[in-house]
Amino acid sequence: MADRIYYPNAELANNAYCNSMQQYKDMHEKSIKNPELFWSEIAKQFYWESQTSNDKFFSYNFDLNQGDVFIKWMEGASTNLSFNLLDKNVKCGNGDKIAFYWEGNDPEDYSRLTYRKLLEETCRFANVLKSKGVQKGDRVAIYMPMILELPIAMLACTRIGAVHSVVFAGYSSDALAERMMDSKAKVLITTDGVWRGSKLLILKAICDDAMKKVKEKSHEVESCIVVSHLRRVTSPQGSTLDGEKGKHGINGSSNGNNEPNIPWDEDRDCWWHEEMEDAEASCYPAWMAAEDPLFILYTSGSTGKPKGVLHTTAGYLIYAATTFKYVFDYKPNDIYWCTADIGWITGHTYVVYGPLANGATSVLFEGTPFYPENDRFWKVIDKFKVTQFYTAPTAIRSLMKFGDDLVKKYDLSSLKVLGSVGEPINSEAWLWFYNLIGHGKCSIVDTFWQTETGGHVITPLPGATPMKPGSASFPFFGVRPELLDEDGKLIEGEGEGYLVFRQPWPGMMRSLYNNHERFQTTYFDKFRGFYCTGDGARRDSDGYLWITGRIDDMLNVSGHLMSTAEVESVLAEHPSVAEAAVVSKPHPVKGQCLYCFITPNEGKTFDKTLQDELKKKVREKIGPFAQPDIIQHAPGLPKTRSGKIMRRILRKIAIGDKNVGDTSTLADESIVDLLFQLRPQN
Ligand code: WTA
Repeated sequence: MADRIYYPNAELANNAYCNSMQQYKDMHEKSIKNPELFWSEIAKQFYWESQTSNDKFFSYNFDLNQGDVFIKWMEGASTNLSFNLLDKNVKCGNGDKIAFYWEGNDPEDYSRLTYRKLLEETCRFANVLKSKGVQKGDRVAIYMPMILELPIAMLACTRIGAVHSVVFAGYSSDALAERMMDSKAKVLITTDGVWRGSKLLILKAICDDAMKKVKEKSHEVESCIVVSHLRRVTSPQGSTLDGEKGKHGINGSSNGNNEPNIPWDEDRDCWWHEEMEDAEASCYPAWMAAEDPLFILYTSGSTGKPKGVLHTTAGYLIYAATTFKYVFDYKPNDIYWCTADIGWITGHTYVVYGPLANGATSVLFEGTPFYPENDRFWKVIDKFKVTQFYTAPTAIRSLMKFGDDLVKKYDLSSLKVLGSVGEPINSEAWLWFYNLIGHGKCSIVDTFWQTETGGHVITPLPGATPMKPGSASFPFFGVRPELLDEDGKLIEGEGEGYLVFRQPWPGMMRSLYNNHERFQTTYFDKFRGFYCTGDGARRDSDGYLWITGRIDDMLNVSGHLMSTAEVESVLAEHPSVAEAAVVSKPHPVKGQCLYCFITPNEGKTFDKTLQDELKKKVREKIGPFAQPDIIQHAPGLPKTRSGKIMRRILRKIAIGDKNVGDTSTLADESIVDLLFQLRPQN
């Protein structure tokens, strides 16, 4: 079944921007052979305050043997992201079009924002940022839930040329502090709190803690701007904090006095709505050079220290816009919904930048798939008549569990394109998505990409690509994937190896913030002349690419990347722990989960209390999503004579597979049997 090929629905294909494999191949070939021509035609759709010249359109070096790695697109051009996303849409008659339908955690809370209003709010907030002393190039940290003020804050940064660094609001205060420290953030934007399902999170308290930690390390966040969100939403018990219910705008008037125990520093903190009151609704855009930084987004690194992935202006704009248009085949009256949190790259490119660059109408969803009931996704699709729905395999798998009846209650016939991102999608989940959610007529785009790639790099196109469940299929325009073996030899035709890219596309990262050296060693050192993704892939006899998962020390838990080193270092900080080793174990819903081996210090016991403390520590230091599933006692670890932990063996122990392979290089072979004996049941 899984090898069956699914062809795009004829009606969808007929109307698609790219409607056949032949057209895809022609366009792809052109984009590779003559990137300047291909992308300069696309760039014409946008506004450039100053133009690039043909000979400067594209230059790069991927080969460390030839010198430093660099990637430049459209040198000499200048533009402004918010101008292209907002002013341009308003000017061409889309002012009254809805940019975002906001759907709250509670179904009673909803709101909407037109392009005109989004422009005004963005300008107002840009002026607020200026009044706080934010200048071009300054970093602004953002720690917010999925509310309308989040895209407004990001766009306001781009308006004045400030660099935003959004930190997922599920991270702990330590993680937030580390990121603000690294980027030397001047301002932090947050929210008093948020209801996630029936749980209340006081985000401002987490921010206070993080700002305190930053200060201890002698950097200071000068201002903290806080959205008063709790008073205007319905709490799970059915009452609002100030009695207001249902539909509301984004400019409520509250003096903030009825906030539930929100800590406050008069010199540093201010309320968003108070600052916005007198701010002007227009703000002249800062014209940014093509390669000026646009944003930093932190992603896990294999050493444990997060990497500040840096994206720049012009290339990111044209790539986000073009992938959005072709991969979702977005048409003017469509309603698009991406469920990803803006705190991840998917939310940056496919909730904010890509859709707005295309004048799209999107749903911005604050809640979870499970609240108030497990049918929330299907309910929202029906409510807004969503046409494109983009989510993650982990969400699909967790919703499959509840049975088909919850889905069948709703009319999902508006759907045309379904998207998947974050990890390989297993064929069972793919087929459920296809048959039940897409009623057998929607195309599924299994989009492979990374924080580093900025946008989709390997993906089907909905009107063109015959689909194989679980295959991300073919490269997007401008992308040249290759498979290499361990020695860096090219694998032609069928085979499996390291997935690398041969040349840059406009949307790829340019560097790691303030650490170009690490950028080069992480991505360009192993295979000279190629960008190394860290993922493995297989090419089948039809040329389809199948992503097989990470081949470095990274884990992918529910689509969240983290490194084993990151978790190990947190575990090892515990006073009872001598040594910790972490591996991934397959998990039916999360894709992978964390399996930890703990060697206690002399005289310390390994018991339930220690296990609970360790889980808590990981939650606090990284975030709840990183909590280990299994913590096993390991009186010793399988190590080579040189002391290197053999994670390959630990992975076998984690899944209970006695077939561990060669153990002759181990310093102490008996440890393997012992670890099998100590495996916790199930
Ligand atoms: C994995 C998320 C298989 C992969 C956009 C990659 C995928 C990492 C897919 C990046 C997919 C993402 N099929 N694996 N369609 N999409 N991945 O930076 O391991 O959060 O390297 O970006 O997710 O995760 P990141």
